[in-house]
Amino acid sequence: MTNYINNRLILGAELEGCEGQIAWRSPSNIALIKYWGKFGKQLPRNPSVSFTLTNAFTDTLIEYNAKAIASEDIRLELYFNKERNETFESRVVKYFEELTPIFPFIKQFEFKIRTGNSFPHSAGIASSASSMSSLALGLCTLEHKLFGTLGDDSEFEKKASYVARLGSGSACRSIYSHAAVWGKTPSLPESNDEYAIPLNDEQLHPIFKDFLDDILIVSSQSKKVSSTAGHSLMENHSFAAARYDQAKQNMTVILEALSKGDIETFGRIVEEEALTLHALMMSSRPSYLLLEPNSLAIVEKIRTFRMESGLPVYFTIDAGPNIHLLYPMEHVVEVRQFITEQLSPLCEDGKFLDDHVGEGPEELI
Ligand code: PMV
Repeated sequence: MTNYINNRLILGAELEGCEGQIAWRSPSNIALIKYWGKFGKQLPRNPSVSFTLTNAFTDTLIEYNAKAIASEDIRLELYFNKERNETFESRVVKYFEELTPIFPFIKQFEFKIRTGNSFPHSAGIASSASSMSSLALGLCTLEHKLFGTLGDDSEFEKKASYVARLGSGSACRSIYSHAAVWGKTPSLPESNDEYAIPLNDEQLHPIFKDFLDDILIVSSQSKKVSSTAGHSLMENHSFAAARYDQAKQNMTVILEALSKGDIETFGRIVEEEALTLHALMMSSRPSYLLLEPNSLAIVEKIRTFRMESGLPVYFTIDAGPNIHLLYPMEHVVEVRQFITEQLSPLCEDGKFLDDHVGEGPEELI
């Protein structure tokens, strides 16, 4: 395993007047096998796999300027949607502090970070995966600009994924196009807990490469439980050991389904994972009930529609009340009609966000 601690990444005389800017667009991802439970420095208790989305993304511009006078502190200002945001700023300062053993040059600069999401702040969509991955990509680009150390694309991505993981576990999966696996699983010898890896063409059937994910917004309220608090609920959970075993087994089965294009097995597993995540939250101490009556009504309608139409339409759910509808592109017309007629009336202001599996992050300048 690469050791990313590198105290040689420090500039000498060339620091003077060094300035520039870097920008990345990075998407969110939706977990098919859920990461729920962690240990150490954001290491997962079980492997997970996700689809990388397209329309839900964060754009992050990092402006950097060499400090005129050397100092040990982190200097940064953070603007979210053009306005200084002190809550996000202090989170990023803390994150940068934690990253100084990996990127010691961080202390040699002052930063202005300008960031914004494509999706409304109040959509109830977690932005930590897209925002943390866009920052991690920016820092890796800065390292490469200053030191020429990350010219190999695969090394660049591994490091970006590792750094993103330290910001928010699931963010490490957003670095790659289409689908990514994080956490050791025997089916993929290269998989590991430190960073995510992509699924290659043999491992991901073409049917999944443009799969749709329509996000039905049942409520745009922010989360009742932060993901940090959520993960820690697993520490003394009565079902913890059984859950980690289940996730490991589901991982092996879904990886095979993803490679073969077996949508039925895929669908059975993603629905089981979504409902297990919520069952774990309901049965934790304290208990959390994040699904709303309309979330359950939507789940019922999806199952009935699937039975009656014979179409392969499945759901997954994150740690909130909103429902992700997963289905192949070829059925978009029938499924959108179903959404408009039957599901939108159960959504807040009739709202759903259309998204799909996509190409992964993009450097903007
Ligand atoms: O990355 P975190 O700490 O926000 O945790 C993400 C947890 C889930 O979204 C519920 C599952 C996952 O694997 O993304």
